[in-house]
Amino acid sequence: MSGNTEEMLEDYRRRMNLPAAELRKVRDVFLEELHTGLERSGNSSLLMLPTMVDILPDGHEHGEFFSINFGGSTLRLAYVVLGKGHKEVDRIEESEQKIPEELRKRHATELFDFLATELIDFADRIDIPISGRLTIGFCFSFPVQQISINSGRLMTWVKGFECEGAVGQDPTRLLDDAFRRQGVLVSIPAMTNDTVATLAAVRYRDGQDAFIAAVMGTGTNASYVEQIKNLPKYLPQYMPRTSDMCVNTEWPGFFSHSLPILNEDQELDAESDHPGQHCFEKLTAGLYLGEIARRILLRFAKVGCLFGGDVPETLLRQGAVDSSQVGRIHSDDTPDLLKTGAFLEQIVGINPEKNTHTLRTQVKAICDLVANRSAQLMAATVVGLLTHLGRVDTSQPLQKNVLAIDGGILINWPNYRVQMTAAIKEICGQEVYDNLHMKIPAGGAAFGAACIAAAANNYMRSAGHGYRPPARSVSSYFPPRRPSQTF
Ligand code: BGC
Repeated sequence: MSGNTEEMLEDYRRRMNLPAAELRKVRDVFLEELHTGLERSGNSSLLMLPTMVDILPDGHEHGEFFSINFGGSTLRLAYVVLGKGHKEVDRIEESEQKIPEELRKRHATELFDFLATELIDFADRIDIPISGRLTIGFCFSFPVQQISINSGRLMTWVKGFECEGAVGQDPTRLLDDAFRRQGVLVSIPAMTNDTVATLAAVRYRDGQDAFIAAVMGTGTNASYVEQIKNLPKYLPQYMPRTSDMCVNTEWPGFFSHSLPILNEDQELDAESDHPGQHCFEKLTAGLYLGEIARRILLRFAKVGCLFGGDVPETLLRQGAVDSSQVGRIHSDDTPDLLKTGAFLEQIVGINPEKNTHTLRTQVKAICDLVANRSAQLMAATVVGLLTHLGRVDTSQPLQKNVLAIDGGILINWPNYRVQMTAAIKEICGQEVYDNLHMKIPAGGAAFGAACIAAAANNYMRSAGHGYRPPARSVSSYFPPRRPSQTF
């Protein structure tokens, strides 16, 4: 039995643990997709969306802002007062709560009413009167075709949301309407993706060395600073104020045959809300890692290679294993693998006498493979972005590479970052590795959204005019993503 288990584990190791040469292949395909996606009529799995954020904060912004960070299982709210001094944060209040599961499938009106009422309650809790007009930075982390810095069109729901009445609509307008229904006037100078907001937060707090931001949490994604001359897709009527603009790669959709896709991934995709979409996200992000692990454990159990030939009931249930459990096991460095043992006992229902060190080692090996594959793939795509920006060319003196990061997995799974940077070293070598600094901004994307709102406000104040959205419909500018594919 144990011999078979080892053989089977070895087989999964071979398929999930990519050597440097394979990771370089993933990087190269990612780069090709990125270049195709930047073209106006490109047919790519990367949307490469211009965000209209062409000025990032530099620490001189000031004012009083609320922010709403909505993009997955948790709603994060913040109240931020930026002082007149450089990088001066006079006050920051934060609050977070779970988004009720049932809202994922309700009408958009209910979802946006929830966002508005939660913010109003939050203002009340921290004693901020809502009699005037509240200024809100809105971080909305779903694929949006941005028309201006504070308007756009939701292209599709992802991450298990299916609220009717939102796709094709402007999320800023939906939020504004929700506040009106509560009798509260708001101004929303910016709507941004969480990756752009993360980049903005690091720029505000740590200087101008960050050009890329990546998020790995419930979902995953990255944005980076692109030269506008490389961006034929940006809206022709939009008058850029600088030579650069943040581009939202929407890398969740990245697809390539060189990705290490298992039968378990294909089954998960087929049974998901959006089959054929968000391939990269389904291999790597928090919404899926627990489910991938469950499916692999189940396969081992069914062929008699785990649990002494029994198939534990729990493992038959979709969603029974949560990604946070995979995270705990991934960071289990206790000699007796106590965290893994607790998972086996409390979640899988294994009797203490069967909860052996051998079983724990095997289960940990499976969870590690799931987490490490994600970290390695993330390394390959981050290197893709660094390569595109010309920041890994060791024939020249290397510039400091600051990577702004956020998301539960990057923040809370210590071994994940270790694996990711180790893979970056394998792909690009010691020098690039030594030059890479990861920064998790205090206050995260919610703080960043407030900073972007502040930058937008400051600009409007100094220029004496607002952003003018183009008159034509956006659909004429952006080609659709390549049709869904079975992976
Ligand atoms: C969304 C992105 C977002 C990412 C992280 C993905 O599912 O498509 O827009 O940035 O999740 O929240």
